[in-house]
Amino acid sequence: AKLWAIVPAAGVGARMGSDLPKQYLTMQGKTVIEHTLDRLLTLPTLEKVIVAIGKHDGIWQTLLSASSHRVLSTIGGRDRADSVLAGLNALKTLASDDDWVMVHDAARPCVRLPCLEKLIQKVVEHDCGGILAVPASDTLKQSSADNIVSCTIDRQEIWQAQTPQMFKVGQLREALAAALEGGYPVTDEASAIERAGLPVMLVEGRRDNIKITHPEDLPLAEFLLGQQCN
Ligand code: C5P
Repeated sequence: AKLWAIVPAAGVGARMGSDLPKQYLTMQGKTVIEHTLDRLLTLPTLEKVIVAIGKHDGIWQTLLSASSHRVLSTIGGRDRADSVLAGLNALKTLASDDDWVMVHDAARPCVRLPCLEKLIQKVVEHDCGGILAVPASDTLKQSSADNIVSCTIDRQEIWQAQTPQMFKVGQLREALAAALEGGYPVTDEASAIERAGLPVMLVEGRRDNIKITHPEDLPLAEFLLGQQCN
């Protein structure tokens, strides 16, 4: 089976409070999304990456990455799941349903090659979808509406989901379409797979695979990128 990737990059990044979508902010002379694509493209076995861009995106075509022969683009949708589904539809003529696809946030430029390799190895070995994740390190509180703690959640069972998330192309397409049709909230690909009653393996990654979401994340990501030589 071949390996493909989809990078959803059609979000507006409202929580960043910046005019530019977060994937187009610059770190070390390159945009966030270009760092992310560089990391994915270090995988020699990766066939192509489909980037789902926003309908009114005016920046993507100006980037060098847009001209790489291993990078294609398509128009994303209203929610992340729509964008990923658009990517899967763009893969229809290229990939078989039994191929593997990694979905990776444009906003996670710090993912390291050994983590990508570990995810691929585990998923292929067990022939079961899987995601990079880390065990929760903080104590977790559930709150009532007025910010009063209603209970403490046993953190031993809690993991924080990251990306990449890797599944069979056909399985993910069906699961996402069904979840969207059913109107279920889908904040990651795994939640659609879970809804479909299929197993998802947790593959322990690293805490520095952060998603740039809030303004304070950008300098942190820039620091982490400087630290890494894979
Ligand atoms: O909003 P959040 O940080 O969860 O977004 C994760 C990724 O999903 C980002 O890379 C964002 O660009 C992408 N996204 C998308 N289409 C949307 C919403 C988010 O491709 N409609």
